[in-house]
Amino acid sequence: MEPNVVSSEMKELFMPFSKGPRACLGKSLAIMELKLITAALLRSYEIGLSPTATEDCMTMTDHFLVLPKGGKCELIFSPAARVETVATDVR
Ligand code: HEM
Repeated sequence: MEPNVVSSEMKELFMPFSKGPRACLGKSLAIMELKLITAALLRSYEIGLSPTATEDCMTMTDHFLVLPKGGKCELIFSPAARVETVATDVR
């Protein structure tokens, strides 16, 4: 399967906020917070896959929520090189 292609099976498998009239009321807030956290992590760290992580252990399995077969996602976080931003006077 092409990366970044979301199939209808994947949409049905991934339902962390539940569905229907009792679905999560905080879904939009939670997604926004997750995006902010992800952006902050990506700014601060270079993130790579651990050499011990295999394609097999990252295979998706259905336990109501989607879990990697190996039960964990082995990532390595290294502090990112700081990019200094210089304020410029636009007056
Ligand atoms: C990653 C974060 C979150 C996940 C995965 C999540 C997941 C869920 C799920 C699965 C339910 C349905 C429970 C059921 O079937 O009885 C639920 C309900 C609910 N969630 Fe969340 N939630 C998240 C964040 C939030 C946040 C940030 C808020 C509010 C600020 C929130 C407020 C609620 C409320 C009020 C309900 C009850 C809705 C009802 O019973 O009508 N949730 N959530």
